[in-house]
Amino acid sequence: MDFADNLKNYQYVLAKMNDNDQGRRNKIKGDFLESVGMSSPKDSDGPEASSMRQQLLLLGCGNSKLGEDILHHFIDLQYHPISRIVQCDVSPVVIKSMRKRCCLHVGSDLMSLVEDDATRLKRFDDEIFDAVLDKGLVDALFCANENEQLRRVVKSAHRVLGKGKCFIFFSFSQPEFLLERSIAGTIAKIVKGKQKGKLKSGGGWSHMEVREMNGIYMYRFIK
Ligand SMILES: C[S@@+](CC[C@H](N)C(=O)[O-])C[C@H]1O[C@@H](n2cnc3c(N)ncnc32)[C@H](O)[C@@H]1O
Repeated sequence: MDFADNLKNYQYVLAKMNDNDQGRRNKIKGDFLESVGMSSPKDSDGPEASSMRQQLLLLGCGNSKLGEDILHHFIDLQYHPISRIVQCDVSPVVIKSMRKRCCLHVGSDLMSLVEDDATRLKRFDDEIFDAVLDKGLVDALFCANENEQLRRVVKSAHRVLGKGKCFIFFSFSQPEFLLERSIAGTIAKIVKGKQKGKLKSGGGWSHMEVREMNGIYMYRFIK
């Protein structure tokens, strides 16, 4: 069972995001489409469906198979029109080998592989993506204490996402530490202002949620 398989159908509890927050400990069901904020195939039926091709951006893709697995998941779901997966990595070597491995998907315009720095995403215009996903890059930057780069990645993801769309990243790091570094100052302000309850916004995001799923956290930031 790989990572994408786990995402198809999973259970989670809401993690606490700061010292005042209790989280929610009852188990909730999640699945991939719901997680990334995309409609199910039957919801997208209808006359306007064919013009609604959605685009997902994967940051720091490395040579992971996650992008291909997500694409196969859409194909299995008969998701129509099939979404386009854009994978980016700062390494030209990675992009070259991924283009070779994924040549069929690239050739049929289901996938593109772009060499770009996720702290800027200068190859992409504003608000063009329906979801941005990361597995490994945010965590690597957090663990290396690269806080400024981490914040820039989150800011760039925000810029390229459409309004109401979702940035998801996975991390083993707990929200009370990671959130402060990814969206500087927000937690500190909330604690200072003695506000209780869930962190609702920060860094331009309209809503944030952290799902705890078998030891790994899924961070969901909605624009
Ligand atoms: C820890 S690996 C994760 C790879 C893959 N996502 C996975 O799950 O196996 C981090 C990846 O991010 C890439 N990377 C590092 N800094 C980056 C940046 N600023 N912009 C885009 N990619 C970056 C690295 O080249 C590497 O492929």
